[in-house]
Amino acid sequence: MKVKRARRSGFCFGVRRAIEIAESSLRDYAKVYSLGPVIHNRQVVDTLHRQGLVTIDSVGPITNGAVLITSHGSSPDVIRRIRTKGLRVIDTTCPFVSRTQKLVRELTRKKYRLIIVGERSHPEVKSLVGFSSGKADVVNSAKEAKALAVKPREKVCVLSQTTQSLSRYIEIVRIILDKQCRETHIYTTICDDTVIRQKQAEELAGEVDSMIIVGGRNSANTNRLLDISKKCIHDARLVENEDEIKPLWFKGKRSVGVASGASTPDWIIEKVIAKIKQCSFLHCGRKI
Ligand code: F3S
Repeated sequence: MKVKRARRSGFCFGVRRAIEIAESSLRDYAKVYSLGPVIHNRQVVDTLHRQGLVTIDSVGPITNGAVLITSHGSSPDVIRRIRTKGLRVIDTTCPFVSRTQKLVRELTRKKYRLIIVGERSHPEVKSLVGFSSGKADVVNSAKEAKALAVKPREKVCVLSQTTQSLSRYIEIVRIILDKQCRETHIYTTICDDTVIRQKQAEELAGEVDSMIIVGGRNSANTNRLLDISKKCIHDARLVENEDEIKPLWFKGKRSVGVASGASTPDWIIEKVIAKIKQCSFLHCGRKI
């Protein structure tokens, strides 16, 4: 059985940067808190916890130390609250997310009606809504976009979460364009890394008998890769690590594709690939 790995896999630039900042802040400060998980990968976050990082949901009870803003960013209100408490802010927001945040602030100042395509409960989208002072609308499906009431005289700007699926974004943009507002501005805010991973996962899923996506179940970009793969191939699964791999999945398969989310470390992908290869040996009856 052949195992083909997507060329773009392992950490993206923004995730690698966030982890490096987190590690160096743990060396520099006695107490470091992370407002939510630094990245959406349990194993990596557990490693940082062992180095002393403490993940919190709110800064309410914290009285001293440094607070990490995660790679997904935070709203200006949250950052202001941390500073008002006299705590140090360490910002690991991915520069691609920061760029979208600045865009949202600018368009809100110019009084455009903002529509963000993304998941309402995702930290990045919450931060973007915060940068619009709570004024932006969020839609995440064609149904929601159709239901959105927009007046013909309105000036609308549409942008997306950095890890949104490109095809879903295009679908939703078409629906909004159809509303024929006086002005509709479309921004391409999906990051390059996301687009490359989605294209490679789609190509790979079209070539293999089975597809494995490696990454956190709470990772938006990992789940997008699974959705995209499932459109091409019925046999597509998401695993967080090698322990979840079942030999039966590969019985009779000639090829397996492996792609990963942007917050999945190389060492987990390599262990998953090794386990898949072991399963292939089991099925051909050779000794491991
Ligand atoms: Fe940044 Fe894109 Fe990674 S937004 S965190 S480079 S997936």
